[in-house]
This record gives sequence, C-alpha cells and structure tokens, in this order.
Amino acid sequence: MTAMTGTTGSRGRALPHPIPYQGSKRRLAARILALLPARIETFYEPFAGSAAMTLAVASRRIAGRHVLGDSLAPLVGIWRSILEEPEALAARYRMLWEAQIGRERQHYDEVRARFNQDRDPAALLYLLARCVKNAVRFNGEGDFNQSPDNRRLGVHPDRLRREILAAAALLQGNTSAEVADYEALLRRATPRDLVYMDPPYQGTSQGRDARYHQGLDLDRFVDALGGLRARGVPCVISFDGRTGGKAHGRELPGRLGLVRLELAAGRSTQATLLGRDELTVESLYLSPELARADRGTPAP
Ligand SMILES: C[S@@+](CC[C@H](N)C(=O)[O-])C[C@H]1O[C@@H](n2cnc3c(N)ncnc32)[C@H](O)[C@@H]1O
Repeated sequence: MTAMTGTTGSRGRALPHPIPYQGSKRRLAARILALLPARIETFYEPFAGSAAMTLAVASRRIAGRHVLGDSLAPLVGIWRSILEEPEALAARYRMLWEAQIGRERQHYDEVRARFNQDRDPAALLYLLARCVKNAVRFNGEGDFNQSPDNRRLGVHPDRLRREILAAAALLQGNTSAEVADYEALLRRATPRDLVYMDPPYQGTSQGRDARYHQGLDLDRFVDALGGLRARGVPCVISFDGRTGGKAHGRELPGRLGLVRLELAAGRSTQATLLGRDELTVESLYLSPELARADRGTPAP
C-alpha cells in the first residue's frame, strides 16, 4: 500500500477536526474508510477520542446512525456540546482562548485547576488545544496534569468554530455520544452494524507513560472481541503496530479469526529525532465479513 497523509472525505473535502487529540486517526481515516461496506445500519466507535472515523463515515453517509462512546466523561461532554449547542461551545472556547493573551502560562494553570474541580468540557477543549502534543495526561488522583506547549497559543477560535460547526453539520440528528465503557456499546451491536475500535495503545498506555486516563486490559478486550465474532458483528480494530523493525505491544490472537493489514502511518518523529529514518506502520484487523481479497493486502 502507498503512504497517504490526506484527511479528506469521499468528496475530496477536508474532514472537520474539532478536537485536537493525540492518537487521532484522521490521517488514516480515508484509507480505513475504503475498507468499509457501502451500507451500515449503526456505526459504533466505542473508543471515540476525537472520533476521526465517525466523521469520515458521516461524510460518506454510509451509516444510518453513529454512536460515539468514550470513558472520559468531559471528552464526551465536548461531543455532546458539538451535537447540541455548537455555537455555545465555540463561544466558550473563544472566551477561554482570548483571556489567555498576555498571561498565557498563568491562565493555562488557572483553567487546568478549575477543570480539575468542575470537569467543564469547554475547558478540556482549551487545555487539549494548548497542551503538549494535544495529549490528555492524568495523575494518580485522576487530575489532568499535562503541561502547556509554550510555543503556541492553541487553535485560533475562528478556525475552531468552523471545525465545530462543520462536525455538527455532519453529525446532528444521526449521532449520539455516551460516557461508557466500550463493552456497553459492543453489547448492542448486531451483524448489520459495524464497530470500529481504536483502544489505548499497549505500547504507550501502561506503566510510566500512561497516555490516556485508562489503560487497556488486553484479556478483557480479547474476550469482548470473541463475543463480537461469535455474534457475527463486523468489526475493524486499529491496534499498535511497529516503527521500523520494533513492534509496539502484542498482536491479537489468531483464534479470533481476524485478518491483519498494515497501514503505513508516516515517518516516526521520535526515530527522525534520533537520526533514523523509519516508517511507522499501524496494524488494522478486520473481521472476515469485511476482509475480502479485493479490500487490502494481508500482512505477512
Ligand atoms: C487511541 S484513543 C482513540 C483515538 C480516536 N481513534 C481518534 O480518532 O481520536 C483511545 C480512547 O479510548 C478511551 N478509552 C480508554 N479506555 C476506555 C474504555 N475502557 N472504554 C471506553 N473508552 C476508553 C480514551 O479516553 C481515549 O479517548
């Protein structure tokens, strides 16, 4: 497969990107989309984050409904605001963004401290836009503790408003957002639906570099996939991968009967910094209902 970094939908228009989020699948969304069936009853994204795949699916209008789920409640709060009151969210972001001018560091610290008390979704949107690598990081007490990126102010409010309104236009009326553990969404999926999963990476979500607020219990995840397979629910899973020859995390077990493809995700910034030129490759697992021979090249 050739490397492709575009973020456009089926009609060549750029997909909206309302939540700056480390690990977003927006650069791979068009290629994953090409593997999906032409008609889906409900598209489930239980590890939604910035929901790049749901936005891509919505841009092609192939699903009757979309269900976003994430266990990080204020993140789901951002999605609910996008669905229900996008102008109000854009206005709150503008207030937070403009109030930082001239006292950026102090303002960031104040917003972060307030967020750790009230979990205001608009504050999380501002913190994500301003923080290092747009990455949510929480300490042992569950408080957001990521530092600001002092080299930038975060997405300009005019631009973020456009992204928010464009996402709302795609999703309003056909999408719901839930604070939920992924298994709650999986239980509802049927063979007419499709589940896309992008769980926290094993390579980075455990131990000292705990990237998200919750790591992945691999045994529980594999059991849940077994349940989907037994019910014949079509599913696609983004799961770790490798940089050059170095694998991140483990592979999913063969007994699940999934087909693994490899998607080139671009150059590794880390490797480039170290003077190596290595390609990062992401694994994509497809359930056999989707993995027809004409849809991709199985990994060796
Ligand atoms: C790799 S990110 C998903 C990124 C997403 N594909 C995107 O385009 O932005 C994984 C997400 O899973 C969420 N998460 C972690 N554990 C979860 C769980 N048990 N149930 C539901 N969501 C979970 C995290 O909050 C995080 O937003």
